[in-house]
Amino acid sequence: MALAAEPIAADPMVPYLASIEQVVVLTPDTKLFRLRLLDSAVADAFTYKVGQFALVSVFGVGEAAFDISSLCRPGAPLEFAVRRVGTLTAALHELEEGAVVGVRGPFGNFFPMEEYEGKRLLIIGGGSGMAPLRSVVNYVVDPERRHRYGQLYIIHGARTPSDLVFADEFPIWSNSPDPRLELTVDRAAEGWEGRVALIPDVVRELKPTAADTVAIVCGPPIMIKFTLQALKALGFADEQIVGTMETKMKCGLGKCGRCNVGDKYVCLDGPVFTFAQIGRFLETF
Ligand code: FES
Repeated sequence: MALAAEPIAADPMVPYLASIEQVVVLTPDTKLFRLRLLDSAVADAFTYKVGQFALVSVFGVGEAAFDISSLCRPGAPLEFAVRRVGTLTAALHELEEGAVVGVRGPFGNFFPMEEYEGKRLLIIGGGSGMAPLRSVVNYVVDPERRHRYGQLYIIHGARTPSDLVFADEFPIWSNSPDPRLELTVDRAAEGWEGRVALIPDVVRELKPTAADTVAIVCGPPIMIKFTLQALKALGFADEQIVGTMETKMKCGLGKCGRCNVGDKYVCLDGPVFTFAQIGRFLETF
């Protein structure tokens, strides 16, 4: 598993200032924030890998950890998909373009994308759990890299069709070589002619092959629990199943003890783990 990258700040508890360059409504409760770091030297030094996270602060309200949904490219803004679930995220959703927020990071380990080369990738995202997986997908579908990976098989599910995130990117994902994009919802809505089923049932029905495949899973704990069972029944070994943990984090630096899962700190040892590393804890959800 990839090691955590070093934070770039002299004092990693002090946030950088960033302005909200653009807000994109993804679903009724999720917005994509494009943030521009105000200090150009900091922006140049703020390099990150697929799967890392940062802490975003709304001044006077608080701070929370979010996976970075963008790919690290020179001059590109940082992107975070934020679901409105509490006080901090509600305050963030109230902010408009031009507002200034704080950013600390990048923190955590990352998906070892080089290790996955030559393999099929099975991406399974439940609801806003697709946010950290979007950067994996966009990394792979980049025409410069697509030939390095086998089939890109994406299963994305949500409560309703309007809760499917990154819908405007589905055509790009579907048009890359050797793709398979399966969408599913818990409840249909008018005009929806697609699948209505829970993700674990979709996995059981479609039976994606385990051979030479890495499965990357993110979503609500209950979805992860039953999806893991479905994958294991198909022959996926614990080492072939990778997840990124969404959990409460405070310091991001292994100091506050808020993010432990068993003997691991999500902020230091994760957020990317294999099922072999933390599966027994996920099974207790
Ligand atoms: S967030 Fe503080 S120890 Fe992980």
